[in-house]
Amino acid sequence: MWNFLKPLIFSFDAEKVHDFSLKSIESLGAFRPQVLEWISGQAKISELSQDVSFLGKTLKSPVGLAAGFDKNAKILPYLIHLGFSSAEIGSVTLRPQGGNPKPRLFRGDQRLFNFMGFNNEGAEAVARRFSGYQISKNFSVGINIGLNKDTPHEKAAEEYAESFDILKSFGDYFVVNVSSPNTPGLRSLQQLNSIEKIFSSMKKVSSSQRIFLKLAPELEENVLSEFFSRASELGIDGFVLTNTLGGNREGRNGGWSGAPLSELSCSLLAFARSRTSLPLISVGGIMDAAEAVKRKKLGANLIQIYTGWIFGGPRFPLQLAQAWNEL
Ligand SMILES: Cc1cc2nc3c(=O)[nH]c(=O)nc-3n(C[C@H](O)[C@H](O)[C@H](O)COP(=O)(O)O)c2cc1C
Repeated sequence: MWNFLKPLIFSFDAEKVHDFSLKSIESLGAFRPQVLEWISGQAKISELSQDVSFLGKTLKSPVGLAAGFDKNAKILPYLIHLGFSSAEIGSVTLRPQGGNPKPRLFRGDQRLFNFMGFNNEGAEAVARRFSGYQISKNFSVGINIGLNKDTPHEKAAEEYAESFDILKSFGDYFVVNVSSPNTPGLRSLQQLNSIEKIFSSMKKVSSSQRIFLKLAPELEENVLSEFFSRASELGIDGFVLTNTLGGNREGRNGGWSGAPLSELSCSLLAFARSRTSLPLISVGGIMDAAEAVKRKKLGANLIQIYTGWIFGGPRFPLQLAQAWNEL
């Protein structure tokens, strides 16, 4: 069915399809969640024998939706009906932001290229939406925090902490995103000094919440090594590996996701697991079930997908969960 529908769906503009999908999931989720369960094969996931423990919760599957799909938490309560056991909302910035001019999302062969630029409704609006939700105890919510593009870096720590303060009661874990290639200069915060300031200002807001760091796939081993070996002193509770691969398409800087990331994301995971026992969420280039199994073997606690879901279709989360369960 998906193979039949995909060429038709892919004939439309990628961001328009994305917006239409969000609206459809929102309406179906509110009125007919059983339809979402039927489309995704969710019932089969609830029959899987292996539960997955993550930050004190028991999940039916290791598969989560990666940041960037549901930036404003519009479909969060319905994702469990689509075969996900976790999701990372955001990136959310302190102030609302329109993002880069359109078109800014493109499909390629088993890959996407985007330069969205943190389009989102801002921390207050997203927090208001969260406060109307009741989330299943078997679902883990991550909230990914980004930086407004006009924030000077001297104020970065203060602004991450302010966004965190607004959103802190709604997530099981939070993610500091300093690795998006689409906000000019953001990646320069991926160094010890800046991370120390950001984490310490966030921990002053709340020391009990778990805060993860999301990193770029291109980081040098010596920089990574420092993050992994000094994680507990920096207040880092886990890592999300990885963000998109920085690149250029027709003169626009942005990030590649999907197939071009598989190898890099895997080797970063292997390196991380050799250096830290902290929770690791593996994301980037999981385009088939074998890749999910590989991430499990390399020591991932959870996996996330974005591009794989777009190309693999509605049953893709189920396929990954079944393969993980069989290992
Ligand atoms: C259109 C698009 C928007 C994204 N937006 C964000 C974002 O706002 N914050 C973030 O941390 N990652 C964002 N990402 C990166 C994904 O969370 C993920 O790290 C990356 O796409 C690799 O996973 P994949 O190969 O399964 O797509 C975005 C990715 C795509 C394709």
